[in-house]
Amino acid sequence: NDLASLMNVSVNQVISACMSMGMFVSINQRLDAETITIIADEFGYEVEFYKAEDEMQQAEIVEDSEEDLVPRAPIVTIMGHVDHGKTSLLDYIRKTRVTEGEAGGITQHIGAYEVETDTGKKITFLDTPGHEAFTAMRARGAKATDVVIVVVAADDSVMPQTKEAINHAQVAGVPIIIAINKVDKPTANPDRIREQLAGINILVEEWGGKYQSEEVSAKSGQGISELLEKVLLEAELLDLKANPDKPAVGTILEASLDKGRGYLATMLVQGGTLRIGDVLLAGSHYGRVKAMYDHRGGRMKEAGPSVPVQVLGLDGAPQAGDIAKVYESDREARDIATRREQILREQSVRTRKHITLDEIGRRL
Ligand code: GTP
Ligand code: MG
Repeated sequence: NDLASLMNVSVNQVISACMSMGMFVSINQRLDAETITIIADEFGYEVEFYKAEDEMQQAEIVEDSEEDLVPRAPIVTIMGHVDHGKTSLLDYIRKTRVTEGEAGGITQHIGAYEVETDTGKKITFLDTPGHEAFTAMRARGAKATDVVIVVVAADDSVMPQTKEAINHAQVAGVPIIIAINKVDKPTANPDRIREQLAGINILVEEWGGKYQSEEVSAKSGQGISELLEKVLLEAELLDLKANPDKPAVGTILEASLDKGRGYLATMLVQGGTLRIGDVLLAGSHYGRVKAMYDHRGGRMKEAGPSVPVQVLGLDGAPQAGDIAKVYESDREARDIATRREQILREQSVRTRKHITLDEIGRRL
């Protein structure tokens, strides 16, 4: 039926075209890609297929005019080798810098934190370290990070994952700041780290290079204020701006089902302002924003650019990396969600079809 209306012919014509190929189909039957191509060709059409992932990311980018743009907080990701202290560093920053939200509410993991520096400026930290999350987001076209902090333990060395982190950031064109961590340890040797970094073409400022670095300790807190100031310096150079006066658009960082409340999705707002009552679409899920929470579980009424927010009201859990966008009408969001849902379902059917008997045998 869909194919017929796309080609502006009657359903019966499509059905008989199928029949002539020995296929007996019903009006609502979904056809596979090959059949669609052959039938369309018979009616003089050429078929263009596109992937479900591309469809998921479809959100027309509205160019903002210069006068609508206002400065926004930098979004920072911490990366580095296993055990070099990424979590500890983030924990220290969070414990000491997280701005007090409204009272009440349970502190929970929401995948992102807004912190305040000594000078009262804000920085948003993404608690999604690990190269996989970063790569997954990049693969989905979500450039959610402005600055990457690469942590290297001073009592260890530049390790494979250190290099990988640097590499990822470079490929993404994101500025890098090196945090030489664990300098409180007696065996710490920051010079050795700087030397090894120089060996892979990462020359820190102290050595005449272009990369900012700071000796820090996630244990004592040494150097962390300075590190945050360096993040701000880097951010200033980037001249980060966004337009808060439009329907919100951003990236989903994580989503889950809360038994009592329903689906909770953490969204990083990147443009516009999200408000209670907005119709939000993320991946193949949509809904009206019923409530918004900060990372302390405090209620929020609105969230502007660079603000991470936990959203209640979607009809399911979108994927990390999905673009989230506010729509004018309920109906438009629902239509897109339904179409995406259908594409996803079809894609999963199609992938399932490729499993051979041999493979099934091996699974038994
Ligand atoms: P993964 O998430 O497993 O990759 O590790 P990570 O990079 O998050 O490291 P994590 O923060 O878990 O720290 C690893 C170990 O190093 C823990 O035992 C920390 O207590 C310790 N550690 C982290 N930072 C410091 C520091 O500045 N000084 C000292 N002395 N120990 C630290
Ligand atoms: Mg960790």
